[in-house]
Amino acid sequence: MNDRLTVAEVLSRFDREVGLEETVRATGGSSATAAAVDAASGPVVRGAPARASVAPASSAEPSPQRIHAPAPAPARPVPEGRPIPAASLRAPGSPGERAARLAEIEARHAETCPHCTTATGHTRLVFGEGAPDADILFVGESPGEAEDRAGRPFVGPAGEKLEEMIRAMGLRREDVYIANVLKSRPPEDRSPMPDEVAGCGPFLVEQILAVQPRVIVTLGGPATKFVCATETGITRIRGTWQRWLPPAGAECPEIAVMPTYHPAYVLHTYTMQVRGEVWSDLRGVLAKLGRTPPVRAEGQGG
Ligand code: URA
Repeated sequence: MNDRLTVAEVLSRFDREVGLEETVRATGGSSATAAAVDAASGPVVRGAPARASVAPASSAEPSPQRIHAPAPAPARPVPEGRPIPAASLRAPGSPGERAARLAEIEARHAETCPHCTTATGHTRLVFGEGAPDADILFVGESPGEAEDRAGRPFVGPAGEKLEEMIRAMGLRREDVYIANVLKSRPPEDRSPMPDEVAGCGPFLVEQILAVQPRVIVTLGGPATKFVCATETGITRIRGTWQRWLPPAGAECPEIAVMPTYHPAYVLHTYTMQVRGEVWSDLRGVLAKLGRTPPVRAEGQGG
């Protein structure tokens, strides 16, 4: 049984599952201190230089409790600007109704998003995709070059890594829902600016309300900061259960949030620690959902 695997065996299996073994061998790996990661808000995204964070991590934060330990969630600040439409506050129905609601949000976002309708430098909007009634919703930062070309989230190298992580959980990409905080690629792939997040972010809130997953997995600093309404840096908060608080009036329960590293950061930082932490976070998500990771047969190729 999986529970009898040693930590080294689990990490090694995760390496095979997410293809890290090959990457480590190919590059020789690198390391980053927690301080450096937080300064970059968890990133090294899409091979770009470390980005400035949306807001600096607070140095006064207490040490977070680790996985499965309840952590106090901050009150969700009232989103500035556009209120959430009443239709999006209602409980979602069947998968078909959720899909229709998401399509309506996508169309309205394209017409009215204060950020995306004024942004320049992108070619396509990347709204999000996946199962409209998914148990798990992954939230990234913003589209990159490959996503901008395809109009789909996480289809570049970081997307391949995310898919490998999803497969390691025993799931397929189409089993989950994937979205970003920003729906248009920022110029030069820089980090989202606060005003951009304020404009586009409420549409992510509507997506969450439509899907109502059981767990949200935030990928990297900017997604975690927005979803968890926190300034805590990703290295401090990852692996600790947080809560997403729905806006007032929404027919939606609080949703458990597991912050973890961005897959691009996993790609670029090959320490045993990072690999182990991400896998630990994903295992925590599976445990929350009452699932166990798949056990690979002896001798099965990786
Ligand atoms: N990085 C993100 O945060 N989102 C994407 O869709 C792709 C890369």
